[in-house]
Amino acid sequence: MNTQRNATLTVDGKTVELPVYSGSVGPDVIDIRQLYAKTGMFTFDPGFMSTAACKSAITYIDGDAGILLYRGYPIEQLAGECDFLEVAYLILKGELPNPEEKAEFDNVVKRHTMVHEQLIRFYSGFRRDAHPMAVLVGVVGALSAFYHDAMDISDQYHRDISAYRLIAKLPNIVAMAYKYGRGEPFMYPRNDISYTANFMHMMFGNPCEDYEPNPVLVRALDRILILHADHEQNASTSTVRLAGSSGANPFACISSGIACLWGPAHGGANEACLTMLEEIGDVSHVGEYIKRAKDKSDSFKLMGFGHRVYKNFDPRAKLMRETCHEVLNELGLHDDRLFKLAVALEKIALEDDYFVEKKLYPNVDFYSGIVQRALGIPTQLFTGIFALARTVGWIAQWNEMIADPDQKIGRPRQLFNGAEQRDVPPMSKR
Ligand code: SDX
Repeated sequence: MNTQRNATLTVDGKTVELPVYSGSVGPDVIDIRQLYAKTGMFTFDPGFMSTAACKSAITYIDGDAGILLYRGYPIEQLAGECDFLEVAYLILKGELPNPEEKAEFDNVVKRHTMVHEQLIRFYSGFRRDAHPMAVLVGVVGALSAFYHDAMDISDQYHRDISAYRLIAKLPNIVAMAYKYGRGEPFMYPRNDISYTANFMHMMFGNPCEDYEPNPVLVRALDRILILHADHEQNASTSTVRLAGSSGANPFACISSGIACLWGPAHGGANEACLTMLEEIGDVSHVGEYIKRAKDKSDSFKLMGFGHRVYKNFDPRAKLMRETCHEVLNELGLHDDRLFKLAVALEKIALEDDYFVEKKLYPNVDFYSGIVQRALGIPTQLFTGIFALARTVGWIAQWNEMIADPDQKIGRPRQLFNGAEQRDVPPMSKR
């Protein structure tokens, strides 16, 4: 970060100079770390509408231009040219792997896909109808109980091995949550197929017959994982960073990210979007729901629409819509009712003044539910797939934070508007 100039703030007759830093691209920042010491005041920014909580070199988003870069590479090119593990390597290490590095990384991940046999017993403690995200929060957090050999987060090797374990095991853990809910036997991972083919094998395979996933569907799911891999300082990534800032172990931090992602305003939106489409049912009802979305007295929001950063198209939504077309065509579902409803809803919303004025466009979650449903993934597991992919971004952001010499425990302050000091009255006088 380089200081080019200062910002001058004058308040209550005091004037303070605050350094302004520029990054490599994107908005400059005003360093307010000395603000309280110099003015006795805090900034006030609930929801962090104008706050850069950290410096990062991983993902860059230009919300107005609809640009998303992982380590400088456009998401469109990565989704078209790379597989998920290549992108995971890029996000973790900063550069795309060469053939030898890719082969080695694929092999390292493959060698960590199995989980400790005793971890499998955790599943039996859940009800069969437990929401898979509740299972993931519990089981991923429980990994902390199994890897004491590599939890010294000051040791780069320990941080690396924890990253590999999480990236490798999440598909297995997610697939087991799916199988457990269906009362089907867990499938052990295979080392002879790709990461995403292996995930589909663990999800849809069974011990009674061979299962060879459809390569078109594998490629589509692999692209979906790429689109969800990282996304700057979103709510769940910020949760992982804040948890990690206390020195908590990486497994507990990723579990906190999963918990945050579950919310319908965040990663839970794909599940909520499909539920919404099912509820709308038919194009003839779209107008009624658009009207509800615009009605301030109605809490209904058009799920899969809007974004804190994108005030133009979410580039991932376009790629997801293309992937949707591919999968539905491959499966002979091009007349899929919900897909046609989603396309109609998108068109109507984008022509509506309310959505145009508020710059509400489809986000990554709008089409992802439809394509995952076509792939045979149950609605309740959509956010689990999102968590599987985002684990790469979370652990890379966690790693970047731990390695940052400037990092400190996150401890925001507040604008207090509660009762001032008062004495406790005796019970007789309350
Ligand atoms: C993800 O941050 C990330 O990067 C997240 C993510 C990632 O990859 O990590 O991209 C993944 O979480 C995508 C977002 C998925 N969520 C949804 O699709 C849920 C529906 N969307 C909204 O809840 C909302 O758009 C948010 C939460 C996504 C963004 O909320 P903001 O930035 O706080 O914006 P806002 O709620 O203040 O909305 C601005 C205005 C408001 O109206 P006014 O108060 O200005 O009159 O737009 C309205 C909102 O009421 N609005 C909507 C709307 N989204 C915003 N109105 C109807 N339907 C919607 N979907």
